[in-house]
This record gives sequence, C-alpha cells and structure tokens, in this order.
Amino acid sequence: MSYETLLLEIRERVALITLNRPKALNALNSQLIAELNQALDRLEADPAIGCIVLTGSPKAFAAGADIKEMAELSFPQIYLDDFFAAADRIANRRKPIIAAVAGYALGGGCELALMCDFIYAADNARFGLPEITLGVLPAIGGTQRLTHALGKAKAMELCLTGRQLTAEEAERAGLVARVFAAEQLLEETLKVAEGIAAKSLTATMMIKESVNRAFEGSLSEGLRFERRIFHAVFATADQKEGMAAFVEKRPPQFTHR
Ligand code: HXC
Repeated sequence: MSYETLLLEIRERVALITLNRPKALNALNSQLIAELNQALDRLEADPAIGCIVLTGSPKAFAAGADIKEMAELSFPQIYLDDFFAAADRIANRRKPIIAAVAGYALGGGCELALMCDFIYAADNARFGLPEITLGVLPAIGGTQRLTHALGKAKAMELCLTGRQLTAEEAERAGLVARVFAAEQLLEETLKVAEGIAAKSLTATMMIKESVNRAFEGSLSEGLRFERRIFHAVFATADQKEGMAAFVEKRPPQFTHR
C-alpha cells in the first residue's frame, strides 16, 4: 500500500515511517493523520514487526497541526467532527514507537512526538507548543503529556509563552531520552529499534502497557497492574527461554510468543 503523506519502509523487524509533506514542514492535516493510522494499523497487525520508528525531515519532524486546514472551521464543524479524535488513536498503539526528531517539533508535531514511547532528538531539534500565539491551545494531549514529562513549572511556561526548547534543554528536562548529532540520529535510532525488536514482543508490549499505567491512574492502581502483568508474563514461551538462556549462559532465541 502506498501513501501520499508518508513513506513506509520495512527493515526486518523494524518499520520506519517518514512523514512526507516537505513543502508544509510536515504539518499534520487530516490526510496525514488518517494515513499514519492506516500504516500503524497494518504494522500492529503484522507479527513480524517488533518496533516502529517515526521520523520527519532534517528541517521538521512536524511544524504542527495544519493551520491552513483549521483556520476557517467553525465551532459546530470542529465539535461535530470531533476534530483530532483520529490523532488519539496514535497514542493507543500497543507496539513500541520511537520518535526520531530533527528540526521543528511544534504544536501538534511536539504532541505527536509525545505520543510516541520515547523521543530521540537531533542536536538541531526544537520543541514547543506555540498554540497560544495562534489564540488557541494544545489539543492533541499537549497540556497533559508535556506536564507529565516536564512537571508543572516548565510545561506551564512553555504553553503560556510558546517558547521553544533546544534539544539539549529538552534532554535536561526529561522530554527527550537522548540527543544525537543530526547526521547520526536515524542510524542510532534504528539501531536501538532493532535491539527492541529482537526482544520478546510479548514482554515488550507488556512493559509499554505497564509504564503507561504510571500516567493514567493512581500509583496503587499502577503498581497492582504491574504485578498482575508480571504474573502473566510467566505464561509466555519467551519468559522460559529468556531465563533458561541466562542460566545456561547462552543468547536467548525468542519466538515472540
Ligand atoms: C500549515 C505550515 C505550518 C503549519 C509551516 N507551514 N507550518 N502550514 N500548518 N503548522 C507552511 C508555511 O505556511 C509555508 O508554506 C511552509 O510550511 C514553510 O514554512 P515557513 O514558515 O516559510 O518556514 P520558516 O520560515 O523556516 O519557519 C518555520 C516555522 C514556521 C518557524 C516552523 O513555519 C511556523 O511558525 N509554523 C507554524 C508553527 C505553529 O504555530 N505550529 C502550531 C500549529 S497549531 P508556504 O505555502 O507559505 O510556502 C497546532 C495545534 C492546534 O499544532 C490545536 C488546537 C486547534
């Protein structure tokens, strides 16, 4: 299947999705969000895929939701269509997704990166929520996910001012897991993705689900969930194999079952 707004490349157990609206700095229009969901549906259903990398161009991961598409919409249009509801599906994926961010990740672009499981940034990356400068507010989870990632003081400052964080500041603040030289970003990210994809897919997905619980409810609920899912992992062949391999001092042969 081919897409107009993104490129999809499969490299063994890793899928690389590249946002591809270069003239609009990868602004997220409805078509891009729909195609991204179609690609993710397909990758989630494919048992041969263990990790997904989402990237943009060297200049922009994505410069936001498409302002030109939204500018003239009325309240009833945006409310009745439940505008951006489709974007929420990206955050609810079960396989790990790494964002490899170079250049601008602004507004919806920053929110899209935040929906991924972690962010690797090029040293030229810029993160910000400039919606306030357009007279609107972040609406694809930014006020919540940025606050979880950075704490109230920094998140509030960024949302109220639209100020951009450099890659280095974003890493210091905990928004970004690691920063790489721009020309190494993709290669390093793909290497990490290959490592994740080689592990037990069941355990990987359980870890993702469990870590995400930390952001959804109370600590006690999250801890209970973690314990239950830990019990359940003992029903998998990969747990038996992973532990046996350790005891026998050999590399594990995971079957992703
Ligand atoms: C639509 C966009 C766009 C966007 C850039 N473009 N960002 N189109 N939506 N979010 C288009 C420009 O109009 C221009 O098209 C082309 O991409 C290149 O952009 P330039 O501005 O010429 O590039 P540059 O001077 O390098 O500046 C880069 C930039 C700037 C600083 C990133 O483009 C910018 O400020 N963009 C908007 C960032 C923003 O406000 N994002 C948040 C959007 S709101 P033409 O046709 O002129 O060449 C959002 C959530 C909304 O994300 C949710 C609540 C409603």
